[in-house]
This record gives sequence, C-alpha cells and structure tokens, in this order.
Amino acid sequence: MMSRHLHDEGAKLTLLGRSEARLAEWDGLATIVTGDLRDAETAGRAVEAAIAAHGRIDGLVIASGVVAFGMLADLTDETLDELFATNVIAPTRLIRAALAHLEESHRGGNSPFVVNFSAVVAEQPTAGMAAYSASKAALTAFDAAAARELRRSGIRLIDVRPPHTETGLAERPIAGTAPRLGAGLTPEAVAERVIAAITNDERDLPSNAFTS
Ligand SMILES: NC(=O)c1ccc[n+]([C@@H]2O[C@H](COP(=O)([O-])OP(=O)(O)OC[C@H]3O[C@@H](n4cnc5c(N)ncnc54)[C@H](OP(=O)(O)O)[C@@H]3O)[C@@H](O)[C@H]2O)c1
Repeated sequence: MMSRHLHDEGAKLTLLGRSEARLAEWDGLATIVTGDLRDAETAGRAVEAAIAAHGRIDGLVIASGVVAFGMLADLTDETLDELFATNVIAPTRLIRAALAHLEESHRGGNSPFVVNFSAVVAEQPTAGMAAYSASKAALTAFDAAAARELRRSGIRLIDVRPPHTETGLAERPIAGTAPRLGAGLTPEAVAERVIAAITNDERDLPSNAFTS
C-alpha cells in the first residue's frame, strides 16, 4: 500500500522483498530487488540497484517486518533470531547502506527522509508478544538516537508506530497464533497518514497519530 501511494505521488521506486511473485505486479513500474534482509549483503545490493536505476536516493521506507505470538516458555531460538534479525538488524543495515546517498541528496538541495515501521507495542509492550514487543522497542530506540545523528546531515528519520492494521500480518506469524485483536486500521488509512507525515515534515508518528 505504501508503494502504491508513493508511486502515485510520482516517486521512482526500488522495491525489495523475498518473494518474486509478490513483487511481480510491479514489473515495469519499479526496480525490483529480491533478497532476504537477514543476509548481510542484501541491504548494500538493494542500494546499489536503486543507484544504478535512478542515480540517487531521496527516501528510504522500511516496512519489512515479522511478528510472532506466544508465551516466553514456547519461544524458540529460531523465532527469537528471526524477529531481531528482521525487525532490528536489517533496518539498521539498510539505513547505514543508504546513508551516503541520502547525505548526497541533501547536498543536492533535497529533503531526504527515512521512514522506519516500528509498532504500537514499542509503546505498550504486550504479554504473549514479548519478543516482538522487544524487537520493536529496540527499533524505536535505535530510531530516536539515529534520528539525532541523521538530522545533522539534513536527513529526517520518522519512527512510525501504527496500531493493529488489517494487512494480514497477524495471520502469518513466524510462530504462535494471534490473540483476538479486534478490528484494525485499514492499510489505506495507515499509508495515507505516513505519506502525510513525509509531506508535512513530521518527525515522529506515535500510535495516537493514527485514526481509523
Ligand atoms: N499489520 C499490523 O498490524 C502492524 C502494526 C504495527 C506495525 N506493523 C509493522 O509494519 C511493517 C509492515 O507490516 P505489514 O503489516 O505491512 O505486513 P506484511 O504485509 O507482511 O509486510 C511485511 C513485509 O516484510 C517483508 N519481509 C519480511 N521478512 C523479510 C526478510 N527477511 N527479507 C526481506 N523482506 C522481508 C515481506 O516481504 P516478503 O515476505 O516478500 O519477503 C513483506 O513485504 C512491519 O514492520 C510490521 O511489524 C504492522
């Protein structure tokens, strides 16, 4: 949904995901990179592809992430590793890989930005989602510190903490089963709010910034 909105706003996109099939609809409309962000080389490869295709990077939107449910006693090492590798380490590597190009964008007179999708659980850590909550709290802490560093280079980093959203993420956890969550926000409403934050020069998007 974010990609569609950014495309409609005129952005020239480079999209990354593991599934070629999921990205197939963008064939001809965006530069496609397939790769697993848990692999250390993927972030650099994505940035190289964006530069090769478009010559510059003015914005980075990190909406990759995985969720897991279940009690601590049932948490496996594999789930713990995947949560932190995907939700914390991968975004850190992506921003680091794009940094020089975002700085270049600022020097060229643009207003470069990074949008990092954390989650409401960073503000309200939730029982039955302890490791997921911890991964998102770690990401939000990273964003708070990195935003101050990047600001010196004219780069705006927006930490986004949406409430539950009906993207289907909760139905495809890497472990466990989602509790009854109630109706979530529409992906459309979340994407629109994030685009507004980018456009309106906002610097933080807490959970209470979203309405259904
Ligand atoms: N939905 C919610 O209720 C909710 C609420 C708050 C925050 N969030 C956060 O918002 C972000 C977007 O989630 P969503 O709801 O839009 O779920 P989604 O549709 O499942 O999107 C997650 C994306 O992450 C990609 N991804 C996952 N693991 C990856 C890996 N190892 N390497 C590369 N790409 C990977 C997936 O692509 P492939 O599977 O094709 O690789 C997918 O495009 C996530 O960070 C999520 O934690 C979601």
